Amino acid sequence: MKLFLDTANLVQIKKLNQMGIVDGVTTNPTLVAKEPGEFEDIVLAICKEVRGDVSAEVVSTDFEGMLAEAKHLSAIAPNVVVKVPMIPEGLRATKAISKSGTRVNVTLVFSANQGLLAAKAGASFISPFIGRLDDIGQRGMELVEDLVKIRDNYGLKAEVLVGSIRHPQHVLEAAKVGADIATMPPEVMEKMMQHPLTDAGLKRFLDDWEKAKKTKASITV
Ligand code: E4P
Repeated sequence: MKLFLDTANLVQIKKLNQMGIVDGVTTNPTLVAKEPGEFEDIVLAICKEVRGDVSAEVVSTDFEGMLAEAKHLSAIAPNVVVKVPMIPEGLRATKAISKSGTRVNVTLVFSANQGLLAAKAGASFISPFIGRLDDIGQRGMELVEDLVKIRDNYGLKAEVLVGSIRHPQHVLEAAKVGADIATMPPEVMEKMMQHPLTDAGLKRFLDDWEKAKKTKASITV
């Protein structure tokens, strides 16, 4: 499974990308609004840092506006994926944008039927938001399970990109059910690295090493 970062913060992206664990980045208007600077400059900097796919979202809600924004965004870098909302005009735009050769990530997917339509319209990525479903008392992972099944039943080319991830357990479950990609806040990726037994084990190894060094030194004296 590919792991993406869900942030527009270049410092955090660089830090984790150095470890070779970042396959791509997703942004959205909320995440970009938190960062200083122009949208295009932020997207370009991320695209230069990360070789994989970088989703940049349109803010228009009409067909022509989405098309114009898609043209502008896709010219920033070859690894830009245009993110389009799951609305009727968005489906129309998905068809046109993907036909023009630019890959589309259909976002704000909250039902399997929406995902099916997005795939049909030509989306390369379908983004179910699982944390927001959990928030309203629905099991977000069930949507991922459904989308993975539909993808497999029909050999859809659209990748299931799980978004709105809140904790490492979401990532693990997405991997177990066969999602293609999990996009997560940097904090979640950092938590995935941690285990108290790793820290305790390393401490014991280093303590034992130091003790042995002292014992050996005293024997040689
Ligand atoms: C995905 O592409 C979205 O940017 C994101 O995962 C939204 O997550 P949130 O529900 O934490 O805002």
